[in-house]
Amino acid sequence: GSTDFDLFRTSEEHEMLRESVRALAEAKIAPFATEVDEEGRFPQEALDALVANDLHAVHVPETYGGAGADALATVIVIEEVARVCASSSLIPAVNKLGSLPVILSGSEELKAKYMAPLAKGDAMFSYCLSEPEAGSDAAGMKTRAVRDGDFYVLNGVKRWITNAGVSEYYTVMAVTDPEKRSKGISAFVVEKGDEGVSFGAPEKKLGIKGSPTREVYFDNVRIPADRMIGAEGTGFATAMKTLDHTRVTIAAQALGIAQGALDYAKGYVQERKQFGKAIAEFQGIQFMLADMAMKIEAARQLTYAAAAKSERTDSDLTFFGAAAKCYASDVAMEVTTDAVQLLGGYGYTRDYPVERMMRDAKITQIYEGTNQIQRIVMARNLP
Ligand code: CAA
Repeated sequence: GSTDFDLFRTSEEHEMLRESVRALAEAKIAPFATEVDEEGRFPQEALDALVANDLHAVHVPETYGGAGADALATVIVIEEVARVCASSSLIPAVNKLGSLPVILSGSEELKAKYMAPLAKGDAMFSYCLSEPEAGSDAAGMKTRAVRDGDFYVLNGVKRWITNAGVSEYYTVMAVTDPEKRSKGISAFVVEKGDEGVSFGAPEKKLGIKGSPTREVYFDNVRIPADRMIGAEGTGFATAMKTLDHTRVTIAAQALGIAQGALDYAKGYVQERKQFGKAIAEFQGIQFMLADMAMKIEAARQLTYAAAAKSERTDSDLTFFGAAAKCYASDVAMEVTTDAVQLLGGYGYTRDYPVERMMRDAKITQIYEGTNQIQRIVMARNLP
């Protein structure tokens, strides 16, 4: 039977999932991580391996043909993939981000139509909220959706869209009533093949180079009105509710990157000899590793607690999602920077993976809301 102590221990099923994802990630994703980063190419091998093992969109409910994983299982999948390749971890993470608005607020028809191909691995999903002039102030968006009979016509530009061009489906937030600011925003599903949809050139980024980030253009894109997710005017609330859940997945990504850096550095200091002994024998090195492990564990506890709240409707998820994302991403930046330091000059070169991890970690402090925005969200929702 379960006791109160079990609250602080992941279940056997979750740990078995971790073992199998770790083995898969080591065998099928890690071997390409350097190449994917250097060439800035999509990690097709990772997508294939994730789809073959039904790990590309584990959050999709069973009713719609998905694996029906809970939020903690989803976190573990993302964490273990990010441990070897942050770019690849954006496949399960952004599939959740893009599709959660439909799962949370969409009609049964929308769910049935769009979740099945996602669950099967035939289509990926992206999330279009940010614009060139509307990043932190998401409600300041300009993209318009104008009703025309049984259709809506979309015009505008979305920026920083993760996996743009690769994804088949896009959840797009657009203004339906400019008078009402956040209450005048609605959400829609747009397909890559819809006439008038096009993409900008891939951004040249510091990290997560294997995950394409592009602008998405909507030029008189005419879509059936039943592609609206939920009622008119509820799109901003849906977008925010979605982020409450998916900031936990970015925390998971950050956690995985940090763990990967610690694991690598831990092995390195045992091999590297200076002054006649392994540098792991120096207390200055041991203290750094101890701090790194301590911070990772604190980030993990907060992230898993947030994931548990993600499953409960009566919870203070808004605070916890923001806190987990903010804290874990700061830890990822600190730990990866320390990992580079532990490898010294070698750590600064592309011959070792830690500089990639440091570059990849940086984005987790920026996307799905900067860590400054997370503090606004936390302050407005103190527990
Ligand atoms: N749950 C449900 N509804 C919510 C909500 C939540 N967590 N937060 C806001 N809402 C709704 C409410 O209906 C609210 O109205 P009421 O006040 O009447 O309840 C309405 O939205 C407006 O909310 P705010 O007044 O809080 O809106 P705001 O303009 O002050 O903005 C903000 C709030 C927190 C700053 C928000 O703009 C924000 O989160 N900004 C950051 C945007 C962001 O995270 N972007 C990430 C892009 S996605 C990405 O990065 C993906 C990727 O590439 C991987």
